[in-house]
Amino acid sequence: MKIIAGNSNLPLAEEISSYLDVPLAKSDVRRFADNEVFVEILENMRGEDVFVVQSTSAPANDHLMELLIIIDALRRASARRITAVLPYFGYARQDRKPGPRTPISAKLVANLIEAAGADRVLTLDLHAGQIQGFFDIPTDNLFAAPVFVDDIQKRFNSQNLMVVSPDVGGVVRTRALGNRIGADLAIVDKRRERAGESEVMNIIGDVSDRHCLLVDDIVDSGGTLCNAAEALLANGAKSVSAYITHGVLSGEAVNRVNNSQLEKLLITDTIQPTKEILSSDKFGIIKIAELIGEAMRRTTDEHSVSSLFD
Ligand code: R5P
Repeated sequence: MKIIAGNSNLPLAEEISSYLDVPLAKSDVRRFADNEVFVEILENMRGEDVFVVQSTSAPANDHLMELLIIIDALRRASARRITAVLPYFGYARQDRKPGPRTPISAKLVANLIEAAGADRVLTLDLHAGQIQGFFDIPTDNLFAAPVFVDDIQKRFNSQNLMVVSPDVGGVVRTRALGNRIGADLAIVDKRRERAGESEVMNIIGDVSDRHCLLVDDIVDSGGTLCNAAEALLANGAKSVSAYITHGVLSGEAVNRVNNSQLEKLLITDTIQPTKEILSSDKFGIIKIAELIGEAMRRTTDEHSVSSLFD
C-alpha cells in the first residue's frame, strides 16, 4: 500500500499515514511559472495499491487538477490499483440540472476522475448518496456518524437531545444519526409562499425545552444553519448546536457563525480548517483521519468497509 497526498489537506494525509503506519510516498506536486500543475512521483509505483488523498475544496479547480494529474502520473508509472480518496468531494452539489441549459458538474467531475485512471473512489458523506452512480468504478461513501456519536456522548452526556435536519433533503442523514443516539427527529421546512416574499421556517416536531443538534453534510455560507438555529430557539429550543461533516465556510461564514445563536458548530477536518476557525470558541474540530485510514486499510486488505458502520 502506498499513500500520496495532494496539497489540499496535508495535515489530514499525514494523520492518515501515521494511523496506518505507512509513510507518505515521496512526490513533488508543484506549479510551473504559469501556474500549470506539475507532478513527479519520486519512488517506484509498479504493482502498488496506491491511495491519493485529496479534497477538492477551495481552490476547487486547482485541487481537482492536482488530483487528476497525480492519478495520470501513477497510471503511467504502472500502479496496480489507484484509489482516489476524496475526504470532501467538491462539485457534488451540482448533481442535477437546476434549469434548462445548465450542467451536471458532479457527473463531469466523476467522468474526469475515471478518465484520469482511478480504479476506485473513497469519499465521505456525499451530498447525495446516488452520486455514487455517477462513477462506473467501485465507490465507497463513508459516514461521519460514528465519530459524531462519540463526540455527542462526551459533550452532551445524554441531555434532552433532539436531532434536527435543516432542510427536507437532509432527513435521511439526520434520522440515521438520531437512531444511533436514541434522539427524536425534527425538520426545518423552509418555504417561500409567494415569489418575492421572504422564506418562512416551519418546524416539524416539538422542540420546546430540547437541546437541538442540527445535522448536515455541508456548511458553506452558514445561512442555512444560522437561520435554522434562530427558528428553533424561537420555537422554544433550549440550545442549538450543529454537527456538519464538511466545513466549506466560504466568504463571511466564520463571522456569521461567530455572531450567531448557535452554541457550538462541530465540523470534521475533511477540509483543512483555517486559523480563523481554529481560534474561535464557537467551532470544534472532529478528527476524521482514523475513520478514513481504517477504510483504506480494509480496502487494501479486501475486507468489508460497510461493517465499520454496523
Ligand atoms: C444543501 O442542500 C446542503 O446540504 C447544505 O445545507 C448547504 O450547502 C449549506 O449551505 P449554506 O451554509 O450556504 O446555507
